[in-house]
Amino acid sequence: MEVKEAIKKRRAFRSLEPFEIKEDFINDLAKSAQLAASCFNNQPWQYIFVYDSEVLKKMHEALSSGNEWAKAASMIIVVLGKKDDDCVIHDRIYYRFDIGMATALMILRATELGLVAHPIAGYSPRKTREILNIPDDVDVIALVIVGKHSDKINPDMSEKQIKDEKHRPVRKPIEDFVFHNKYKEK
Ligand SMILES: Cc1cc2nc3c(=O)[nH]c(=O)nc-3n(C[C@H](O)[C@H](O)[C@H](O)COP(=O)(O)O)c2cc1C
Repeated sequence: MEVKEAIKKRRAFRSLEPFEIKEDFINDLAKSAQLAASCFNNQPWQYIFVYDSEVLKKMHEALSSGNEWAKAASMIIVVLGKKDDDCVIHDRIYYRFDIGMATALMILRATELGLVAHPIAGYSPRKTREILNIPDDVDVIALVIVGKHSDKINPDMSEKQIKDEKHRPVRKPIEDFVFHNKYKEK
């Protein structure tokens, strides 16, 4: 698949059906993140791939209200990182930027493989820490919900989520965020 096509095809779908998680798939995703650019090649990303059914069930307790649809995930990728593992240049703190870039590559690769990889911020970092034994000095940056897209609308979805499932949410026009040669106040 062309990169352009994967970018277009990627969607934060919420209606998921199960698929079998194989070690090759996890390695494939990990290799995509591994090749991401990072400040000084610091590679600050860490990921927990949760696919054991018992652990997945425990992780359901960590999901915020509105994210019940994510209980149908076959895997949850917990995105982790530490500020001190990457460049800090005065007030410029790079670990979240670099970890976001690596995670985006992983999401695109999952898309290319015909799967859904949907990042979410709606979860409890405290519960996630407890369930997965994550130390306090490691930030729980996001969860990525992984599944196979289902044609059947998940009954846990809200009206708005059903609408977004059918049509990609509207984007800002290009001229709102692109400037040519100098900054332009709105
Ligand atoms: C950092 C981040 C946090 C998000 N949190 C949630 C969330 O908690 N629940 C949810 O259903 N979607 C969440 N999303 C998905 C966005 O709502 C979705 O990407 C956006 O509406 C655009 O839709 P699209 O990705 O299908 O183009 C999140 C996305 C990102 C990048």
